[in-house]
Amino acid sequence: MTEEVIYRQEIQDDFQEVFELNNKAFGQDNEAKLVNALRDNPNVFIPELSIVAAEKNKIIGYILLTKITIKDKNGNLHESLGLAPMAVLPEFQKNGIGGQLIRYGLETAKKLGYQSVIVLGHEDYYPKFGFEPAQKWSIKEPFDVPLNVFMAIELVKGCLENISGTVIYPKEFETV
Ligand SMILES: CC(C)(COP(=O)(O)OP(=O)(O)OC[C@H]1O[C@@H](n2cnc3c(N)ncnc32)[C@H](O)[C@@H]1OP(=O)(O)O)[C@@H](O)C(=O)NCCC(=O)NCCS
Repeated sequence: MTEEVIYRQEIQDDFQEVFELNNKAFGQDNEAKLVNALRDNPNVFIPELSIVAAEKNKIIGYILLTKITIKDKNGNLHESLGLAPMAVLPEFQKNGIGGQLIRYGLETAKKLGYQSVIVLGHEDYYPKFGFEPAQKWSIKEPFDVPLNVFMAIELVKGCLENISGTVIYPKEFETV
């Protein structure tokens, strides 16, 4: 790849291209529709954490982090972020763009003051960026998944030490 890839916040003009990118990368439009629905929910959507990778003027990658909640056994709610979805156009995959999107997303989240990020994803991929199985902190999914695919990262060291509980996803995820 010779062209420079830029990582930046998504703007309104990108929405259609991001829809098509998610559609192509996932081979279905569920995730593309999920992104549209999350954008419309100001309680969970953070514009700075809706990020594109662009080469020249073409969008080739996308990542979204939205607000999620960890509910502990006493019913207390702790704010975190969920990383989903993430996609790179098939013809641009395996060039490190996905990795750069994750790094850029985590850095931006940290700058904005968010403390942790949760992901449900491939167990060999996300640990490269510092994610660890969420069971380390007794953080659980609201549904049954293999333990190693549910991971978390502390953006602020130690921030999850006293937090355990179950993740509550925005209702928009129920439709995926
Ligand atoms: C996941 C995805 C965004 C990674 O983008 P990318 O630009 O190819 O990522 P990178 O180049 O940084 O890393 C690619 C590496 O991670 C591995 N990897 C990443 N996600 C993976 C997954 N879900 N399953 C298996 N391997 C995965 C690749 O096999 C590859 O391994 P290698 O470097 O040993 O060859 C891209 O593959 C994609 O769009 N997939 C379809 C959508 C999807 O499944 N998204 C993730 C769930 S939200």
